Amino acid sequence: MGAGMRTSIVAGNWKMNGAFGESRDLVMALAAGVGEGGDAEMLLCPPFVYLDAAARWLESTPIALGAQDVSREGKPGAYTGEVSGAMLADVGCTHVIVGHSERRTLYGETDDGVVAKFRAVQAAGLVPILCVGETLAEREEGHTAAVVTRQVGAVLDTLGADALGEAVVAYEPVWAIGTGRTATPDQAQEVHALIRALIAVQDATIADGLRILYGGSVKGANAAELFAREDIDGGLIGGASLDAAEFLTIFHAATG
Ligand code: 13P
Repeated sequence: MGAGMRTSIVAGNWKMNGAFGESRDLVMALAAGVGEGGDAEMLLCPPFVYLDAAARWLESTPIALGAQDVSREGKPGAYTGEVSGAMLADVGCTHVIVGHSERRTLYGETDDGVVAKFRAVQAAGLVPILCVGETLAEREEGHTAAVVTRQVGAVLDTLGADALGEAVVAYEPVWAIGTGRTATPDQAQEVHALIRALIAVQDATIADGLRILYGGSVKGANAAELFAREDIDGGLIGGASLDAAEFLTIFHAATG
């Protein structure tokens, strides 16, 4: 089904990496290698300062543009350092990552704050990519399902299942991010199925259409076996998205 009804998404989260020229070279190499797109969607999430330039580099390519974060504030105003959803839409973004574990852990983002950002993204007409996932300690204590249920539930209970009709979810186990320790396809599939089931309780059609991406040490060598699983509809890629050849291999694993 991951390869069936739902069009897969392969998204690159560049995090705080790259420089202007390097970013341009990477985008150009991906534009040259993506082909017609077609069976899967490619999305790039560069740092804020490169979004405007990236939108130009991506013109007349099938590659979409997203941001890594957004302000929770819906109206313009005195919020030094913040970037609004409207500004991201203005420069050509279609997607915004919210609730990445690095934002939650390093910058103190709470479930409530993530819900506010999710709402701000949709209010600007953009698609939120809601990141959820447990830490190693939480997994070892058997709390994976409870943590993911709480994180997805924060959105589901506040905004309702309808809000997930125009959203993407990314399951990113914290212990797999940047560690080289990928979740096994079975481990990932189990949590993806749980997320879909949580939403299906409220709305089976929305649950069925929702793209759920896996993130955490995805590489060219392990992407195909992950993407082959029923409830895994692509990936959110960190380190491997900074290498054009590697990211294209991952992308093509989703189109196969
Ligand atoms: P890595 O692919 O570097 O493990 O990062 C995953 C991630 O956090 C994507 O958002």
